[in-house]
Amino acid sequence: MTIGVFDSGKGGEIVAKRLRRFFPKTEFVVVNDHQHLPYGDKTPAEITRLTDRAIQPLIQRRDIKIIIIACNTATAVAIAYLRAKYPERSFIGFEPAIKPAASGTRAKKIIVLATPATLQSAKYLALKKRFAKNVTVIEPDCSTWAAKIENGEFREEDLLPVLDLARREQVDKIVLGCTHYLDIENDLRRKLPPTIAVIEPIAAIARRLDDIMRGMC
Ligand code: DGL
Repeated sequence: MTIGVFDSGKGGEIVAKRLRRFFPKTEFVVVNDHQHLPYGDKTPAEITRLTDRAIQPLIQRRDIKIIIIACNTATAVAIAYLRAKYPERSFIGFEPAIKPAASGTRAKKIIVLATPATLQSAKYLALKKRFAKNVTVIEPDCSTWAAKIENGEFREEDLLPVLDLARREQVDKIVLGCTHYLDIENDLRRKLPPTIAVIEPIAAIARRLDDIMRGMC
């Protein structure tokens, strides 16, 4: 089976690489929209239009039945539109892992790292309302991160405000709510005390993909 993967930038390759470990026999075809990155500072209408355009190479391939929107930003604002427009495809989206973080926090305080567009989206706000009612969710400004990571310009110093915040606020979970941030996951883990867990969504996405693929056999 061939699976399509989309992100505005390098998040798609990072996600595909990790998914290949779970599905070594599956082919992953990745497309991006490097030219228009970052999506995170654009309006929902722009993100939807750009995403729809960028996934056309996947839509045109009849053998691709499943498309992973490996972009929290595009998922947050465009996935409902894409599902309605292309009902013959199954779309899997990425959402900040609020549910496991909020249900597992003892500190009752978590940090979510995501783009401005994700954090402002109705989908994200609904997720928070549903699963993090009694939890303080801190959302530091990461607006420059995706472009810096994309261009190989992200430096250790860029992590410092988040590291300070995590220690000061004594959170115990940090959610990676943007696939670009998977690129700095190891640096983040290394610099945090072991009491703070970094939550990334790949295993959950792999389970979802497995379910959908089984349903198609
Ligand atoms: N990788 C995308 C995400 O998961 C965002 C990058 C961007 O702002 O374009 O949200």
